[in-house]
Amino acid sequence: KRIVILISGRGSNMQALLEANLPCRIAAVISNRADAQGLEIARMHGIPVAVIPHNNYPDRAAFDAALAEIIDSYATDLVVLAGFMRILTANFVERYRGRLINIHPSLLPAYPGIDTHQRALQAGTRIHGCTVHFVTPDLDHGPIIIQAAVPVLRDDTPQSLSARVLCEEHRIYPQAVRWLCRNQVWLDEIGRVASDRLE
Ligand code: GRF
Repeated sequence: KRIVILISGRGSNMQALLEANLPCRIAAVISNRADAQGLEIARMHGIPVAVIPHNNYPDRAAFDAALAEIIDSYATDLVVLAGFMRILTANFVERYRGRLINIHPSLLPAYPGIDTHQRALQAGTRIHGCTVHFVTPDLDHGPIIIQAAVPVLRDDTPQSLSARVLCEEHRIYPQAVRWLCRNQVWLDEIGRVASDRLE
């Protein structure tokens, strides 16, 4: 299978995927920001990169159309969002139904959206974590593929908690992509995650 990774910034999840020895080809890394740090990491790994600045487009629909065009030019089977900070239109999401996944830094359905670590600390929650899910038009609410939990410790700051969660992100994202590349996990006709994995 051929996968394309979409980023906007640091790219540590992308890096974890590039270094995971996945049973697929990473065809390209695409960023909506020219200054995304992850682009340099991708280049060092010899992965083709492309930048599609969202500011160059009049609206989300036009940006998403340009994005889809470049994704399809790589004959992409799976689109992997890794810290991609743009909301995608329903049109785009439906075009890649079952082939578009995201990682979110909370145990969904708790804390969709931003500032998840700070909100988890404010709520006094004892367990936090991360989720890989299929993307649906409902932001951060798609069917869940895998999650990992971490404890919240007494002296945690958003930074210390996010570092603990990020370690788990770097573990479960490659795992989820591996399942999808091997067709061990898929989105069924009624929008549930199905699997025949033996692990
Ligand atoms: C991660 O916490 C991811 O869960 C969220 O954005 C962050 C991206 O970090 N969607 P990185 O760019 O992968 O380092």
